Amino acid sequence: MSTPLTIADLKTLARRRVPKMFFDYADSGAWTEGTYRANEEDFARIKLRQRVLVDMTNRTLATTMVGETASMPVALAPTGMTGMQHADGEMLAAKAAEEFGVPFTLSTMSICSIEDVASVTSKPFWFQLYVMKDRGFVERLIGRAKAAKCSALVVTADLQILGQRHKDIRNGLSAPPKWTLNSALQLATKPQWCLEMLQTKRRGFGNIVGHASNVSDLSSLGAWTAEQFDPRLSWDDIRWIKDLWGGKLIIKGILDEEDARAAADTGADALIVSNHGGRQLDGVPSSISMLPRIVDAVGDRIEVHFDGGIRSGQDVLKAVALGARGTYIGRPFLWGLGAMGKQGVTASLEIIRKEMDISMALCGKRDIQHVDREILAGTPFPA
Ligand code: FNR
Repeated sequence: MSTPLTIADLKTLARRRVPKMFFDYADSGAWTEGTYRANEEDFARIKLRQRVLVDMTNRTLATTMVGETASMPVALAPTGMTGMQHADGEMLAAKAAEEFGVPFTLSTMSICSIEDVASVTSKPFWFQLYVMKDRGFVERLIGRAKAAKCSALVVTADLQILGQRHKDIRNGLSAPPKWTLNSALQLATKPQWCLEMLQTKRRGFGNIVGHASNVSDLSSLGAWTAEQFDPRLSWDDIRWIKDLWGGKLIIKGILDEEDARAAADTGADALIVSNHGGRQLDGVPSSISMLPRIVDAVGDRIEVHFDGGIRSGQDVLKAVALGARGTYIGRPFLWGLGAMGKQGVTASLEIIRKEMDISMALCGKRDIQHVDREILAGTPFPA
C-alpha cells in the first residue's frame, strides 16, 4: 500500500505491524461485539443532502470544545495502553494532536504518564479519570493533572465494572502478561515493534505503577486494577470530583436521556454520548442512534460531545449535524499510531479532515458551526 487514503487502510497497516494481542485489544468489543459493529454500521443509515450552485469557497472547520479552540470538531479519545500500539504512543499521539490543533485526552490507564506527556507538549492536554476505590490515589492523580496544567478533566462513568472482551481473554492479555508459545510467536513475527519497545523505558502503566499504594510492578498492578474499579460510584462522587478539580469537567459514557439530564444537573461543562466503543455493555444501541434524543433532552444546558464508530470525516459531519458540539476518535488514531507512529496519527486526522471538508462543501455549507439537521436527507433515529 502506498499512501493510506482511508481509516480502513490504516487499520490494515496496523494489523501488519502490531502484535496480535495488542491489535486485538484495540479492535475488540464486549461479548458478541454487536454494539461495536452497530456503532460503525449505523452511520451508513444516515443520508446526506446534496446541494448545488451555492458558494463553497472559504470554508472552515474550526470550532470550540468546552471553550477551547479546535481546528476541527474532533479530539483524540482516552484509550488505555496506547503505548502498546507503538512505543511511547501517548507522547507521539499528544504531539500529533497538538500540531493538528485538536485536543488530546490521556487515559488513566496509559503507558506514558501525565508527566511524560507534559514533557513533550507545549499546550495543555486533557486528562481522563477513572474514579478508583482508592480515593487517596484519585486525589493524587487530580493533583498531578493540575500540576501538568491539564485543561479539562474527562470523568468516565460507564466503567464501574469492567466489560468482558473475549479476544483479550483468548490472547492471555493481562498484567503481568501470561507468556505462552502463542504470545511469544505473536511478538516474534513483529520484530520492528519489539525493537522499538526495547528502546523505551515506558512499558508499565505510568500513572499507576509507583503511585498507587502497593503497586510497584506489573504483577501488583494486575491485582490492584482487578479490584479498584468502583461499583458504588455515584453522582455524589461526580460532584466531589468537580469540586476537587475546580476546572472544566466532561462526563463520559452517557447513553440515556435520564442520565444525560442528571449529568447536566451536576453543572459539568460537557457530556460525551458514548458506549465506550462497544467495549462495555454489549447489546446497547449504537452511540449515534442515541445522540439526537440526548441532544433534545438536555438542550443548551450542557455541551453534548460524541464518540463511537467514527471512521470518516462524513461520520463526524453527521454527528455534528445531529447536535454534537465535538467528537472523539479512538480506534482510528490507534490504528494510525500502530501503523506509522506519530505520522500515522496525523494521517488519521488528515484523512478525517479532508473527508469532512469536501462533504460539508457538497452539502452546501462553508462553516462547520452552521451545520445542523438541515444537511441530512434523512435519519432513521428519531429525536
Ligand atoms: C478505550 N476507551 C477508553 N475510554 C476511557 O474513558 N478510558 C480508557 O482508558 C479507555 N480505553 C480504551 C482503550 C481502547 C483500546 C479503546 C478502543 C477504547 C473508549 C474510548 O475512549 C472511546 O469511547 C471509544 O474508543 C470510541 O469509539 P471508537 O472511536 O474507538 O469507535
